Amino acid sequence: MPKDVIIACDFSSAHQTFDFLDLFRNGRKPFVKIGMELFYSEGPEIVREIKKRGHSIFLDIKLHDIPNTVKKAMKALSSLDVDMCNVHAAGTIEMMRAALEGLTRSDGTRPLLIAVTQLTSTSEERMQKELLIGASIDETIIKYASNAAEAGLDGVVCSPLEAAEVKAACGSNFLTVTPGIRFADSASDDQVRITTPAKARQIGSDYIVVGRPITAAADPVAAYRRCLDEFLNE
Ligand code: C5P
Repeated sequence: MPKDVIIACDFSSAHQTFDFLDLFRNGRKPFVKIGMELFYSEGPEIVREIKKRGHSIFLDIKLHDIPNTVKKAMKALSSLDVDMCNVHAAGTIEMMRAALEGLTRSDGTRPLLIAVTQLTSTSEERMQKELLIGASIDETIIKYASNAAEAGLDGVVCSPLEAAEVKAACGSNFLTVTPGIRFADSASDDQVRITTPAKARQIGSDYIVVGRPITAAADPVAAYRRCLDEFLNE
């Protein structure tokens, strides 16, 4: 199964993003994640431009709407040629199936589609009191991941610490895409449940999503190489 390091390009403008990506002009082109802020401020052109520079793209815009709307939005993303995108599993199995249908091109190819289970910003208390979901947060995560697998999705975004449990419930080929990565000697910032690239590999992450340990490093290219070394054992 493919394993890779995805750099979270959490920049607010195309200008900053390209200045950062210019550092990788020579050598391996990293797989990058762009999110809502950049996509909504710069539009689809930012995706086309990053693709033109030879990067794979995880478009992290977490769609959640009625199945028909999600299907049509996914069709648009598929024609943009992103490599990975996502939906909220809370949208139901029917919505996830519609997303897959929308993503699938006439030649049968499609980007990878993964689901967000419970956002890490949602505490168990809020989930139970505000959303009236009575189960524990861990049960919800595994149930939502199983729903994503049933809908035919490729995997979920989860904590590296949950990767083994997700694979036990959904099968070893079900992808785990895991943020919350820090080097043993780097700051944790606002992340709480963190692990190192090497540990994420041992637990079974397929893709690690790494932001500030690379983007805020004095030498981002060296930090990226270190991630590859630790995660892929390259
Ligand atoms: O800078 P850092 O490595 O913490 O960035 C992690 C990236 O992964 C950010 O883009 C963040 O929004 C995203 N993410 C996360 N935790 C989740 C889902 C996504 O940190 N549960």
